Amino acid sequence: MASDSSAAPDPLTVGRYTASSVLVSAVDLQARVRALGEEITADYAGREPLLVGVLKGAFMFMSDLARAIDLPVEFDFMAVSSYGHSTRSSGVVRIVKDLDLDLAGRDVILVEDIIDSGLTLNYLRRSLLARNPASLEVCALLVRENHKVDESILRYEGYRVPSDFLVGYGLDVDEKFRNLPDVRIVKVASDEAPQGSEGEVESAA
Ligand code: IMP
Ligand code: MG
Repeated sequence: MASDSSAAPDPLTVGRYTASSVLVSAVDLQARVRALGEEITADYAGREPLLVGVLKGAFMFMSDLARAIDLPVEFDFMAVSSYGHSTRSSGVVRIVKDLDLDLAGRDVILVEDIIDSGLTLNYLRRSLLARNPASLEVCALLVRENHKVDESILRYEGYRVPSDFLVGYGLDVDEKFRNLPDVRIVKVASDEAPQGSEGEVESAA
């Protein structure tokens, strides 16, 4: 075995990316996710919510969140691509992996890693609502302070975050750093802006 697995590598550089600045520690994340799980457990008592995770970024959050919910839950996943050349999504979203389960009559919780502009969320909500769930709520680990969605649709959220590009706990830059146990601000060693995996033309979030 390598060194103590609870010690986050710091500073951490992969290629031209450095993720040395911790925004949310692993300990804080675990506590916040447990609290969200408890809130969902209380709100959905007597029901069997269906967690819908948006790949890939939400996989780690969803895994911890599900274990913090003391109810029978089911899982499904979808993967989306957004068109555009910037790190920010264009809002033109394509579903590249759709759900396996029927949402009709289900209490659905859409689990997202980060709501940036909110364009992806708006698209996904429309798509899921069209499938006639009994209810649909959103659970996002991170929400930008300057997001552009209606506050009332953000039922469960972990942290409000500034506009820095973030990695770790499922979030990536060029597919890197998803396995970090904390959320960090990534810096890029050139004048190019960091490219999230969703930032390329038609790549998965
Ligand atoms: P939106 O449509 O602008 O809200 O973009 C949402 C998606 O962009 C998220 O689900 C992430 O996949 C990705 N994203 C936005 N900001 C970041 C970031 O700081 N790090 C990693 N991915 C991000
Ligand atoms: Mg995402």
